[in-house]
Amino acid sequence: MSALAELEQLAGFSNASPPAVTRVAFSQEDMRARAWVKQLCRDAGLAVREDAVGNTFARWCGTESQAGAVGTGSHIDAIPDSGRYDGTMGVLGGLEAIRALKRDGFIPRRSIELLMFTSEEPTRFGIGCLGSRLLSGSLDPSVADNLMDAEQRPLSSPKGADARRQTAKELVKPLGGPLNTVPVLGGFLKTVREAAGFRGSLADVRLPGDYYVAFVELHIEQGPILERSGIDLGIVTDIAAPATLRVEITGEGGHAGAVLMPERRDAFLGASEIALAVEKAASSTGAPDTVATAGACRVFPNAVNSIPSRVTLEVDVRDIDSDRRDSVVRAILEAAKRVHDERRLRVETTIVNADAPAHCDERVVAALEQAADRARLSRTRMISRAYHDSLFMSRIAPTGMLFIPCRGGVSHRPDEYSAPEHIANGVRALTEALRLLASD
Ligand code: GLV
Ligand code: MN
Ligand code: MN
Repeated sequence: MSALAELEQLAGFSNASPPAVTRVAFSQEDMRARAWVKQLCRDAGLAVREDAVGNTFARWCGTESQAGAVGTGSHIDAIPDSGRYDGTMGVLGGLEAIRALKRDGFIPRRSIELLMFTSEEPTRFGIGCLGSRLLSGSLDPSVADNLMDAEQRPLSSPKGADARRQTAKELVKPLGGPLNTVPVLGGFLKTVREAAGFRGSLADVRLPGDYYVAFVELHIEQGPILERSGIDLGIVTDIAAPATLRVEITGEGGHAGAVLMPERRDAFLGASEIALAVEKAASSTGAPDTVATAGACRVFPNAVNSIPSRVTLEVDVRDIDSDRRDSVVRAILEAAKRVHDERRLRVETTIVNADAPAHCDERVVAALEQAADRARLSRTRMISRAYHDSLFMSRIAPTGMLFIPCRGGVSHRPDEYSAPEHIANGVRALTEALRLLASD
């Protein structure tokens, strides 16, 4: 089967009506999709192994099996109501590149390994790149095991919630300020991964620094530059720095008819002010590279005739310049404090992650350019505003990324689309890149 037909089949492992795709980490759809991809890998003659968080490695052994390997891959989990190409292109495209090399009779000197990372998307555990963070030693394994599972995170205080409250201050270096007390409900990743069959210690997930001599991720651009300029391939030089905040607001519920306006402590109104402050903080840097989004909001009890008593807001902030990103985070924390004081609400903030940007490896970038030339494809250097597992792989391996155009630059939407010729181009370039890097 071609990578294109496989992409279509993979989109069928979904909990949404087509063309939308929803495939949350460790859900039934994710587990069935993983099993299907692993079988494709075995059919291609690759040796498959998994680690304790479910990162999957499919290896084609090189003639020098002890030499550092060349890695490629991405993720197959998909945020709610998204499309079929984000991440999947890098997994199935990587597999197709390996099969193409095999068909050519290529004998790799270095082993080539396809990776399928666990939970690149933050949907379930509130933090992106879970698998690659652990692989690269960027997340404390015991903190990771205690990350809360959003599916089991009711907004009403569950029985025993306080007993499970943990502090997540080890997660990030706090940015300072009075609101950095970070209570997080925990204990869930361990339960979920073990129920999915991934046992063992997360401490064993970390890879040694010499495991890969190069890692290359093929991905759709998720932006409009390639399509607008008619260029076949983007070769990524830098990945923007992401941060995520969780804001928990507690007010007082009550009857929507009976409680008079001056008496109210409406948690959703506090959340609304903070969401507007998110927009203002990002816009006011004046830099086009600063973006911020209040993309998730859970309201309790979420009933039209009841005053919202609790709200959880999740905020995503990014910039290629991490100091500027941090200034936006600080402005949002200050807004949260103002809302806390002025609206008589309890506002608790957690900095879930505040990561540094990544710089791709110049040698890998040069190899990708050479590969594009060999495949006779036009190319341009660019930055990635989206984050990827490569953000963390770059901490343990010389890393590079290849982008292909996607229609209208659209992503994280059901109408996400990359044309077959662009997918084929990406696979050809990746094939040439793996050929070069595995021969080196
Ligand atoms: C990845 O999905 C991102 O949000 O950049
Ligand atoms: Mn994504
Ligand atoms: Mn992705």
